[in-house]
Amino acid sequence: MALFITFEGGEGSGKSSALKKIIAYFEEQNIPYILTREPGGTPIGEDIRNILLSSQNKNMDIRTEALLFAASRRQHLKEKIWPALEKNIYVLCDRYLDSSLAYQGNARGLGIDEVLDVNRFATEDSLPDLTFFFDIAPEKGLERIAQNESREVNRLDKEALDFHHKVYDGYVKLAKRYPKRIVRIDASQDLEHVVQDCLKVLKERMEQE
Ligand code: TYD
Repeated sequence: MALFITFEGGEGSGKSSALKKIIAYFEEQNIPYILTREPGGTPIGEDIRNILLSSQNKNMDIRTEALLFAASRRQHLKEKIWPALEKNIYVLCDRYLDSSLAYQGNARGLGIDEVLDVNRFATEDSLPDLTFFFDIAPEKGLERIAQNESREVNRLDKEALDFHHKVYDGYVKLAKRYPKRIVRIDASQDLEHVVQDCLKVLKERMEQE
């Protein structure tokens, strides 16, 4: 059976760069996969993404924010993720549920369990089979994005350092809560080693299937 794999972490944790290298493995091995992201992943989801990340929407209420992320996720599951898994196609997703739990639940202060409740409704309890948590100190991650001039700075990037610490603490709590599903990767290493660590875990899990 194909697996549903998600990639999580704070700003500048290097998920997206690692993902580009990880898909090279799927290509080489001829393993069918899709690469997708949240918020977004579908035309409706991309519209919701624009509302969520626009720097103009400064007065968005935090529950509205949580609901919009969940709405984008619902559409994504229905239109893209479930159909792929049914066809035995691997799903590699840049952010998913844990982002909402860490950002809206822990960092915004809505509560991890409250945000989980909303997402239970949205996802009908669809959890990933495997989640990589790209573990890097928030200061280091933010330093990386400051150096990357091609990266667009969005509404959430602009939050204060304290917010990014709470995001990080949220992920640490989640890794403790879901020790089987969430695997911590030392994302302070160079990209090559980060990719190697992910592939090692991935290959082990794929062999078990
Ligand atoms: P994106 O540009 O995709 O950031 P990154 O490269 O860091 O993945 O922007 C997504 C932003 O949305 C990011 O700041 C994390 C945030 N987010 C949430 O707050 N909640 C969520 O449920 C998701 C999926 C993302």
